[in-house]
Amino acid sequence: MTDPGEQRVAAAIVLAAGVGSRMKSTTPKVLHELCGRTMLGHVIGALRGVEPAQLVVVTGQGREQVESQLGEIDPLGVAVFQPVQNGTGHAVRIALTALDDMAAAHGAPQVDGIVVIAPGDTPLLSAASVNALAARLGASGAAAALLIARVPDPTGYGRIIRDERGRVTKIVEQADATEAERAVTEVNSSVYAFDAGKLRTALTNLTTDNAQGEEYLPDVVRILVSSGDAIEAVLVDDWHEIAGVNDRVQLAQARALLRDRIVTRHMRDGVTLIDPATTWVDVDVVLEPDCVVLPNTMLLGHTQIATGARVGPNCELRNTVVGAGAVVRDATCDGAQIGPQASVGPYTYLRPGTRLRRGAKAGGFVEMKNADVGEDSKVPHLSYVGDATIGERTNIGAATVFVNYDGVNKHNSVIGDDVRVGSDTMLVAPITVGDGAYTAAGSVIVEDVPPGALAVGRAHQRNVEGWVEKRRPGSSSARAAARATSSAAEAAGAASAAGVASVADAAGVASAAASGADVPAATGSDQNGSPDDSEGDAS
Ligand code: UD1
Ligand code: CA
Repeated sequence: MTDPGEQRVAAAIVLAAGVGSRMKSTTPKVLHELCGRTMLGHVIGALRGVEPAQLVVVTGQGREQVESQLGEIDPLGVAVFQPVQNGTGHAVRIALTALDDMAAAHGAPQVDGIVVIAPGDTPLLSAASVNALAARLGASGAAAALLIARVPDPTGYGRIIRDERGRVTKIVEQADATEAERAVTEVNSSVYAFDAGKLRTALTNLTTDNAQGEEYLPDVVRILVSSGDAIEAVLVDDWHEIAGVNDRVQLAQARALLRDRIVTRHMRDGVTLIDPATTWVDVDVVLEPDCVVLPNTMLLGHTQIATGARVGPNCELRNTVVGAGAVVRDATCDGAQIGPQASVGPYTYLRPGTRLRRGAKAGGFVEMKNADVGEDSKVPHLSYVGDATIGERTNIGAATVFVNYDGVNKHNSVIGDDVRVGSDTMLVAPITVGDGAYTAAGSVIVEDVPPGALAVGRAHQRNVEGWVEKRRPGSSSARAAARATSSAAEAAGAASAAGVASVADAAGVASAAASGADVPAATGSDQNGSPDDSEGDAS
């Protein structure tokens, strides 16, 4: 940042009292959002770049909403109320008077030095431009420095009028301009730096003698010139920066420009964006070099992505931290911490308080909330994990539910290290499953499981032989059953002729395994119910 000519910026004033009727919204105009901040938030961000001693926001329409937003984004900022919108000059006089009153309350003199002013509806304004403006004022000793732009279509803007020597003499509003003045394409951005004392005096001389019957802040320029003061004009590099947002079309245009600015910066800083046109990155997002973002991805709030991580396609990450080398795809994550080398997705929903430690996995159709998943632990498929702590190298079988809610209160679950939770297990919290324990597939676990135990909590299976042929005669199932029975009988005949164990015997072993509490083959998380498969699946 350039040094504002050694002179400190005493105050920054944001004008945000207007109604913004063209937005057609119950939300005050300056609270409409783009790329992770409200318009007001963007403008305050730019003004904070000059480190003003005080920051004031003039509020009016939607006062309560604007004040509460200010409290959130800039608690040191002060809201000053303008009860009727008598114009931008009137708004600034109210703000300056409030600043002087605050100083007086602390026994300090009136505001002295540089005062910068910006409208609340120019979200693309950069800190660099505000800084250049304050620096120019400080260095020149002028009474005011104006941020001006050359625009392709000046309609609606105040025109910068210069004398034959090129010195700024006044600003003329659209409604008050002559035909010749309307042809001027050099316009007022509504961003100003003033000498506080000169501004204070000039504001007392404002009138409402104009087409809109308002006290125009730009009129201060004419008043200062007539009393012999010099006015500096600083031309902004890119006129888009000062484009005011008055309706939702302009808001979308500003958002697209800001998005382009943000993604371009990240690509220049070493981030791979496969499709910048479908990648939305909020201003406060941090992307480390050599991370890769795939198409259709929104990175929102204070999301951070570390080097080597791969995010997308089709992700929405809000306030989520993604560690080095992690892979996240087709996922919605809010307030999650995804550790290094962890893997998320596809079709995964990670809610606030989710923490995946190094190498952990939240796979397809998995939802998590307030869950701490230990290193190398896996939740590969179709599960809900809520209010849980899971140790290391543990595998949670497909379709497991952490039953955390009893209808009134939420309860916690603690699962140890190297645990194998069988598929379709209901873990009814509060519950503790010890290190190295197993649960049988299809169990409802309501009591703590000691380390190394197999917990079985399910009804014994009963096969009613011949039920289909008897109760569903003539159905396709009955015909299939009849075919199977006769071919099994044939096979049994052939096998006994050859002296080997019958198919029916083999089937008997499998059914014993499925019902026996001491047969760990029943616990597997994968579709075929084998624990070995569940471990293979977790890798
Ligand atoms: C203003 C300038 C114009 C400039 C343009 C740039 C005036 C008279 N004109 O016009 O020279 O080219 O901005 O965008 O200043 N506000 C208040 N209180 C009021 C009136 C306005 O706080 O009593 C706030 C509005 O909420 C808004 C800002 O001041 O944020 C500018 O007001 P707006 O009515 O939008 O002025 P423009 O017609 O755009
Ligand atoms: Ca405006």
